[in-house]
Amino acid sequence: MESRSAASNPFTPGFGNLPRVFAGRKGEFADLRVMVDRLAAGIHEPPRLVTGDRGIGKTTLLLEFETEQNEAGRWVVRGAATPGGTVIARLAAQLAEVLDRRGVAGRLSGAALGGIRRLSGVEIGPRGLAAESATPPATSPADRAGELARLLIEAAHLAREGGTVLLVLVDEAQNIDRATVGDLFSAVQEAQTQVVIEVDRRSGARLRHSLPIGVVVAGLPGLVAHLSAAGSTFGERSKPVELGVFDDADLREGLRAFATAGGGVFDADALELVMEASGGYPYFLHVVGSHVWNAGTGSVVTRADAEAGIAAASAYLDAFYEERLRGLGERQRQYLDAAARLDPADRTPGRIAEQLGTSSRRLASTWQSLVGRHGLLRSAGGDGRLAFELPGLDAYLRRSPR
Ligand SMILES: Nc1ncnc2c1ncn2[C@@H]1O[C@H](COP(=O)(O)OP(=O)(O)OP(=O)(O)O)[C@@H](O)[C@H]1O
Ligand SMILES: [Mg+2]
Repeated sequence: MESRSAASNPFTPGFGNLPRVFAGRKGEFADLRVMVDRLAAGIHEPPRLVTGDRGIGKTTLLLEFETEQNEAGRWVVRGAATPGGTVIARLAAQLAEVLDRRGVAGRLSGAALGGIRRLSGVEIGPRGLAAESATPPATSPADRAGELARLLIEAAHLAREGGTVLLVLVDEAQNIDRATVGDLFSAVQEAQTQVVIEVDRRSGARLRHSLPIGVVVAGLPGLVAHLSAAGSTFGERSKPVELGVFDDADLREGLRAFATAGGGVFDADALELVMEASGGYPYFLHVVGSHVWNAGTGSVVTRADAEAGIAAASAYLDAFYEERLRGLGERQRQYLDAAARLDPADRTPGRIAEQLGTSSRRLASTWQSLVGRHGLLRSAGGDGRLAFELPGLDAYLRRSPR
């Protein structure tokens, strides 16, 4: 059994790293599991579109899902999109690797094997995957969407015969360029709309089965607008999964589990303080939790540890806020400052404009960009109120006037 020390600190501040304990997200996870079960039964399931602010836990959700599904014998491919637009090459290479590992790569048609080579540079020969690492081809094939669709369809047929499900996970989808958005999502749609018709031997009834191919795409909140700007209807055809901050119950349970994993326990006061300081924002949870943990060595994390740790963490949170505010125009910053000064219940475009001595109509583009492009504000409920996306940003703006 581990005991509390800096070495046993269970918190891992950062991005895209798998946390020691996976907290919350029960509803989202249950939905993903149902999606896989239904696909396994041959029932169509729409793609999931996971959106949320930086550091809210999109990558972590995908990684946790991937780990669980791999263990359950599903075939999972995952690619993060980079501004370079190589996500299709990466997915095709991973698909080759998964099919090879499952011993079915040799059953792909010559055309599909050629597709893998043209899309990703990976060669599958008679003895399986060529050992040398492939370099993606300099030019993509003329019919990239068609090649990818064929590959996905053949792989999904093989998954069906193997009694499993093919899962395609795409992260950082806001980075996918327009041409790639079109190719990737039309291929995915083609594969997802394929049907296999089976006749029930006893009743003679014809039953339509979808191919078992599930799709989960994650990105920043502007992703839906990005997809439709690229002319794709993928956003509208998907089921949205909007990730927000942890609620209090998940946060409390998560923090207790973290402490146990590190060989310690929070006393009740310390727990409340850490909850409040993190605002339920996953990235902050790790930054605050980590400092609070290291503020003492006793097996009980005390109120004094929490106070000292939160004070030590505040410079890191401030740096994060500053980073998020960088690159804003003067008007946008004034808008946020004015919103922060108002009581949360009064944060309407009208009241904010009043603070700035103008009309809300003249500021419409300012608040739209703060909501859409920057993701710093969001509409809160139906009464036109705006709220800060990032917990504590309003307090930060109030205490750091320029
Ligand atoms: N469910 C969770 N339980 C515990 N820790 C989590 C959870 N979700 C996220 N975290 C932690 O929060 C941090 C940020 O998470 P993650 O990198 O997944 O965010 P993201 O939404 O992918 O951000 P970005 O948009 O920058 O890629 C990581 O340190 C991660 O370990
Ligand atoms: Mg991420």
